[in-house]
Amino acid sequence: MASVRVAVIGASGYTGGELLRILALHPHVEVTIATSREHAGKPLHYVHFNLRGFYKGLRFSQLDLDKITRSSDVVFTALPHGVSVNYVPKLLELGFKVVDLSADFRLKNPIDYKTWYGYEHPYPDLLEKAVYGLPELHRGELRGAHLIASPGCNATAAIIALAPQVKAGLIDVDRIIVDIKAGSSEGGSNPTMGSHHPEREGAMRPYEAEGHRHSAEVVQELSSIAGRHVTVSLIPHSVGAVRGVLASAHSWLSRDAGPEDVMRAYLDFYSGEPFIRIVRGAPPGYPDPKYVVGSNFADVGFALEARVRRITGFAAIDNLVKGAAGQAVQAFNIMMGFDEAEGLKMPPFKPV
Ligand SMILES: NC(=O)c1ccc[n+]([C@@H]2O[C@H](COP(=O)([O-])OP(=O)(O)OC[C@H]3O[C@@H](n4cnc5c(N)ncnc54)[C@H](OP(=O)(O)O)[C@@H]3O)[C@@H](O)[C@H]2O)c1
Repeated sequence: MASVRVAVIGASGYTGGELLRILALHPHVEVTIATSREHAGKPLHYVHFNLRGFYKGLRFSQLDLDKITRSSDVVFTALPHGVSVNYVPKLLELGFKVVDLSADFRLKNPIDYKTWYGYEHPYPDLLEKAVYGLPELHRGELRGAHLIASPGCNATAAIIALAPQVKAGLIDVDRIIVDIKAGSSEGGSNPTMGSHHPEREGAMRPYEAEGHRHSAEVVQELSSIAGRHVTVSLIPHSVGAVRGVLASAHSWLSRDAGPEDVMRAYLDFYSGEPFIRIVRGAPPGYPDPKYVVGSNFADVGFALEARVRRITGFAAIDNLVKGAAGQAVQAFNIMMGFDEAEGLKMPPFKPV
């Protein structure tokens, strides 16, 4: 089978680097372009030290649409939100299939962009066409898609933790609180005062605690499953890890149910899913991002405190893999008709 020629735009960042790491061993992909404004002309391993020995001969290049057109078939955009929106429509016009890792095409309602991202979305028609790239929810639409909007990492964990409970009608969907613990690589490779290592190491700090942007995606996707509007409040916390997101999604039972009913809901929803592992009973008892780091797995579980009817769904992911580059490749595989797990069959690290 001939290789698909892939361009990675924004290849010097964390998600761009992770795309390069995963695609290096993908049997049906040849990465032909990796863009960076700052590092154009340098070999890839001058920035991504872990990739020394891979991609011999490929150097970062400036973002040149003519060059991309000559040498690529599919484009991954790993750019900040508000930047991708300037490139993706042109790439689609040029006939490319695009997998965008930013938030710029995730939300269906254009008004949400003003509310959550502070800009008027210039391409509402593309919001309708984009497929939200969470394979566990949108596998059918991903087949043959032209534009994949890869989900946010916190949103991925929150949705995966909650979707089975919502689908089974187990919880009061007017009262859901998602507590997120997130590692520092979530903030990207350009440090800010809050994400700079000395400020971050040892931290356990809430941020964007009165309305995190990923809430919009979580509400959109869970409302679609529920068939009515759901209310979700999401509160993230920075923790000292470099990689990992843990979502603890709290809600209250809407009907009588025991642990076996909740378990049945998770087993039914995730039956046959290649990257969902249900963790319950066996050690370590509950999902922990420590045991998915480096892999595309989402470890999922729950706790039911019958005394107060509180139910908590858990999901642990590596924010750069299932929360970004791995999930983007999973969706790309489906779009291209490849085995969904191609390039993603690695187990997590231990210890990390
Ligand atoms: N980090 C995560 O855990 C995570 C998870 C899911 C989704 N995402 C999303 O993925 C996207 C990338 O995140 P990241 O963490 O990889 O960010 P990052 O480390 O800051 O990388 C951003 C990349 O975009 C390039 N870039 C920045 N501004 C640009 C511009 N105006 N024109 C062209 N290139 C530009 C940068 O390279 P040069 O400056 O050298 O050009 C760099 O390669 C973001 O939208 C983010 O929200 C991130």
